Amino acid sequence: MEATVNVNGVVTDGDQAVVSVFDHGFLYGDGVYETVRTYNRQPFLLDRHLARLRASADRLALDVPPTDADLETRMRDTMRRVNPGGEVTLRILITRGVGELTYDPAACARPTVVIIARPHSGIPDTMLRDGISVVVASVLRNHPRSVDPSIKSNNLLNNVLAMQEAIRQGAYEAILLNHRGELAECSQSNLFAVRDGVVLTPPLDAGLLEGVTRNFLFEVGADIGVAVNEAVLREVDLERVDELFITSTTREVIPVVRVGDRPIGAGRPGPIASRLLTRFRALADTLTRTSVTS
Ligand SMILES: Cc1ncc(COP(=O)(O)O)c(C=O)c1O
Repeated sequence: MEATVNVNGVVTDGDQAVVSVFDHGFLYGDGVYETVRTYNRQPFLLDRHLARLRASADRLALDVPPTDADLETRMRDTMRRVNPGGEVTLRILITRGVGELTYDPAACARPTVVIIARPHSGIPDTMLRDGISVVVASVLRNHPRSVDPSIKSNNLLNNVLAMQEAIRQGAYEAILLNHRGELAECSQSNLFAVRDGVVLTPPLDAGLLEGVTRNFLFEVGADIGVAVNEAVLREVDLERVDELFITSTTREVIPVVRVGDRPIGAGRPGPIASRLLTRFRALADTLTRTSVTS
């Protein structure tokens, strides 16, 4: 795996990077993370990602000692030699750190700060042309009073189990329902539907990660005169939508043409997802040319 890794300020090739087995991130999934990608080799919407990283860490009462400027410098140091001339995906992880085998956070003297920089592999054009299939997972999204999905934590078994179901059925993503049976989000992306020209996405109250791309899409929609609104959606609504698509930092906007064995709309990628993606990419390009962060 081609990667350059920064562990507590020390940059090495990926296969030389070391974190202790006594790190509570490894032992308990006690930590938070962000995935950021570059356009024009500039981290995109970095201020939003770092704000969410700190908000997630706060929910775990986890310190993030480096300043945002320091984190950005570490990211730039780490990505310098990765995929020259091309784009980079960065994963920033903050874990509780190394300590005794106890859940007591006081056992860990300082958090571990890891940055993984890898070449960004974009979405294949075939996926945009043909769309993807997803399934509705049998596993439910974590209840917000359990491991709250709004925390972007390293504790990802809920997502892993849902994605295993998708993989077993030959699908690209898994939709998760919440405890009320509403659509929440996917294992690694947010979900959007289009009905009568209006774009709808589950509200935060459905229990989901407030995606940076999801939030940006409200702005992209406004920019091209497409209404993007929050709405409670259920599985039965999928029979009445014209388009369905997913969003995430690394996947941008990908059209969904099938859920399980049911085709969505006309069974091929729709025009609104395509218009949103085109404008999204244009804005990402402009924003990363005109400023270092968003
Ligand atoms: C569960 C989940 N929902 C949504 C997203 C999309 O978030 P973002 O747009 O910030 O990448 C992700 C991204 O990894 C995710 O893991």
